[in-house]
Amino acid sequence: MQIIKSIREFRALKITSPLGFVPTMGALHAAHLTLIKQSISNNTVTVVSIFVNPTQFNDPSDLKNYPTPTEKDITQCEQSGVDYLFMPDINTMYFDNEVLLETPNGLGNILEGACRSGHFNGVLRVVLKLLNIIKPTHLYLGQKDAQQLAIINKMVTDFFIDVTVVPCPLIRHNDGLAMSSRNTLLSANERIMALSLSKALFNAEQLIQHGEDNCLSLKQSMLTILAKTTDVEYVEILARDFSPIDQIKQGYSIILVAAKVGKIRLIDNILV
Ligand code: PAF
Repeated sequence: MQIIKSIREFRALKITSPLGFVPTMGALHAAHLTLIKQSISNNTVTVVSIFVNPTQFNDPSDLKNYPTPTEKDITQCEQSGVDYLFMPDINTMYFDNEVLLETPNGLGNILEGACRSGHFNGVLRVVLKLLNIIKPTHLYLGQKDAQQLAIINKMVTDFFIDVTVVPCPLIRHNDGLAMSSRNTLLSANERIMALSLSKALFNAEQLIQHGEDNCLSLKQSMLTILAKTTDVEYVEILARDFSPIDQIKQGYSIILVAAKVGKIRLIDNILV
């Protein structure tokens, strides 16, 4: 595996297509490794990037505390068979007075967009830069960040970017907790309390299987579970294109939740 730090160095490589790209902010876990595995099995070359993108953090303490186990990340990429690891620094990626991207109304300012002002603008900004540097044929993104996936997909369409976005399933620990780099910041007790997110989602899924289709009732039952151990930011049930619905249409809906456990903010979702 070759580690590349500059754009010039990356552009000098002779890379053969198809090229799979997995953008990350490091603190890699098993869910990242499934994206990497999928890219490796579908492409001739796989590039992973590690860049903790400051422009997508609306909370400075979240950025400051974001885990950065760099050596472990490098080893994991190497052992997974990644061909190139792109690790730019901040001055490589950003300049003063840049042209900026803005998320669209609707998709851009609900849920994560409403709770984390400017977050998706920062995500789009860095992902567009990375796509222009790496020029992949396939871009691998996790369903865990469902709204991010939808917004990046829209950017790819709206800006005629020549890349196929490959959505990869959300991966859970055995006890149900969705895998996330932020899980390592939870104390042992918070780790148990965090299970409320997946419990609330699985409970809603069961109610739906037993015939409940009213979104308001489902949200209410989820809030009852979540409120016991977490500080809920939102529980929402939408069509998979993120348009509002009052009634579940099985196979076309998504339930999303964001909640704080102690100081750690977690998100989770389930397709129903
Ligand atoms: O999902 C993430 O880890 C980040 O938002 C991404 C896509 C790497 C952009 O910084």
